Amino acid sequence: CLWIRNLRQKKRLPGPFAWPVVGNAMQLGQMPHITFSNLAKKYGNVYQIRLGSNDIVVLNGETAIREALVQHSTEFAGRPDFVSFKSVSGGNSMTFTNYSKQWRKHRQIAQTTLRAFSSANSQTKKAFEQHIVEEATELLKAFFKLTDERQFFNPSNELTVAAANVICALCFGKRYGHDDAEFRTLLGRVDKFGETVGAGSLVDVMPWLQTFPNPVRSVYRNFKELNGVFFAFVRDKVAEHRVTFDPDVTRDMSDAIIAAIDKAESEVGLTEAHTEATVSDLIGAGLDTVSTCLHWIILLLAKHPHVQVRVQEQIDDVVGRDRLPNMDDKASLAYLDAVIYETMRYTSFVPLTIPHSTTSDVTIEGLHIPKDTVVFINQWSVNHDPLKWRDPHIFDPSRFLCENGLLDKDLTNSVMIFSTGKRRCIGDKIAKVEVFLFSAILIHQCTVENNSNQDFSLDCTYGLSLKPANYKISVKLR
Ligand code: HEM
Repeated sequence: CLWIRNLRQKKRLPGPFAWPVVGNAMQLGQMPHITFSNLAKKYGNVYQIRLGSNDIVVLNGETAIREALVQHSTEFAGRPDFVSFKSVSGGNSMTFTNYSKQWRKHRQIAQTTLRAFSSANSQTKKAFEQHIVEEATELLKAFFKLTDERQFFNPSNELTVAAANVICALCFGKRYGHDDAEFRTLLGRVDKFGETVGAGSLVDVMPWLQTFPNPVRSVYRNFKELNGVFFAFVRDKVAEHRVTFDPDVTRDMSDAIIAAIDKAESEVGLTEAHTEATVSDLIGAGLDTVSTCLHWIILLLAKHPHVQVRVQEQIDDVVGRDRLPNMDDKASLAYLDAVIYETMRYTSFVPLTIPHSTTSDVTIEGLHIPKDTVVFINQWSVNHDPLKWRDPHIFDPSRFLCENGLLDKDLTNSVMIFSTGKRRCIGDKIAKVEVFLFSAILIHQCTVENNSNQDFSLDCTYGLSLKPANYKISVKLR
């Protein structure tokens, strides 16, 4: 009867006991994604935790995550009303805004513009590739210089500059040198962005932490400041574009976004302020993730020299030594692709997506979740499911190769790093091109070596992306 059905529907989700005031905050540990996977063994793939005053549903494993994000895509397309999200992109971010008609239009503009400047036709594809080749060449120069000067160095800053320059070239038609002090300072801080917006960040679920001196409050203050500085940089550049804007000549993505938002303004309430917010969203999302991915690839190659040699042998066979690799070589370089997918799977360097929220009541795996519930999506659990992956804790790129040496597309599609559903990353295609081409050129031109004096266990710090600890490498010209 209806009464029993209602009672069953209202059944509390399973989950650990939550303490008063803090809930389960003290149980998250240094690596929340691993804690969440362990809790799934006890409570199932859909369970509830409490952080401060928020009930949060955690989704684990491919089946539950796809049921939610694909089959119930609209119900799971929201973003929570978190205080930190309001500091991003001047408060008008597309990424950190809840689901609405206006958000749909905003996302569509960002997505269409990105496509128009990276893959719309063979000419834009070539121009995009050319930016990457130029940055990879500059990156190599910077790496060789650092090796000469210091022998061993942390490649993190150079990788951020390289990835930032690719997206800045698309957005502003301009790149910045590796020695540009202002640009480096700006980017040095962006690195810290993910500490606050990563799932499990405490300031959003315990806003009272802002009221007295404590480590969370100082991290949050830094976060607000870095967002302010970064957004001011983007706003200035977009303002310069407005002054010289010509509707008949679209110079770069900033021009394209100015035109698209002007056109959409009256339709859904997007304002001029959303223009710089879109550019800031794209630059922010496009530099940290791509540079972190490249950083992990470099470290894993240094740690597994036999894998590096195998990639180099395949590139030499296909490309030779007289030219640089390009995207047309990709189909013949399956092992490099396998290394990239295995890096994404093994590190799962975006372990949880940006937090979602439910846009209406919804039922998943028979469990009722009310509207406006915060939802954490554990991508790491998909990539480390022992039922899906043999020895998931082992780095083994060859798991992605079929017997004929080609890439197993079913398996590569099972790696979850760009999320899925209505909030799926819109930069996945350009990110894959960047990661492939940067890696191919680097490995073709040099050998990455580990400093044998350092403990090379590949520790990392948790945030929206997992950042490698301060490991040093050196490069040798091939
Ligand atoms: C969102 C991963 C590169 C633009 C996301 C999300 C993930 C992700 C996990 C959150 C999805 C969710 O909340 O469910 C990655 C990875 C990258 C990468 C692993 C590199 C390897 C890029 C690039 C761009 C970009 C290059 C653009 C230039 C965006 C945007 C969103 C997003 C705009 C927000 C989408 C929304 O809220 O609707 N990405 N990303 N990403 N990504 Fe990426």
